[in-house]
Amino acid sequence: MISSVISLCLLSFFFIGLVHAWPNIPFLHTVVQIHNAITNSDLAVHCYAPYYDLGPQDLPPGTQYEFQFKPSFFFNTKFNCSFGWTNITQSNDMDVSRTFDIYAQSRDFFRCPDLCTWWITIDGPCRGVGSFNCVPFPWQ
Ligand SMILES: *[C@@H]1O[C@H](CO)[C@@H](O)[C@H](O)[C@H]1NC(C)=O
Ligand SMILES: *[C@@H]1O[C@H](CO)[C@@H](O)[C@H](O)[C@H]1NC(C)=O
Repeated sequence: MISSVISLCLLSFFFIGLVHAWPNIPFLHTVVQIHNAITNSDLAVHCYAPYYDLGPQDLPPGTQYEFQFKPSFFFNTKFNCSFGWTNITQSNDMDVSRTFDIYAQSRDFFRCPDLCTWWITIDGPCRGVGSFNCVPFPWQ
């Protein structure tokens, strides 16, 4: 009986402590940064989380857009985005549209706990240090 009371106290102390500490831990605050690495076209970006619309963005070449959030305690945070651009060729211009999960907590939480940087290329999004040397993730 006494031991169960003690463990209940410890348990609630742990959770209350966790809830209080939550906003003060930088590690638990993530920025997603999206760069337009398509050199000859604006990039239309529109990202969503379930029940949340981040609104449409228009990125001229070389510019970026970012949003931030607290990853979920339950490890299920996800943002998907649509990407649109015009592929300009000599013969014709073609509007291209693609989608990608720009943040999936199970994939990204340990890879980019503070800052997830993505370079959007026509071959796919590259995560990491720059558009050079980039191995794109496949479009979804
Ligand atoms: C992106 O997420 C939103 C909200 O959860 C959903 O309505 C939409 O169908 C998703 N789009 C894609 C391409 O997965
Ligand atoms: C864009 O156009 C180039 C030709 O300039 C072509 O090789 C490439 O496959 C096109 N990409 C897309 C996503 O349409």
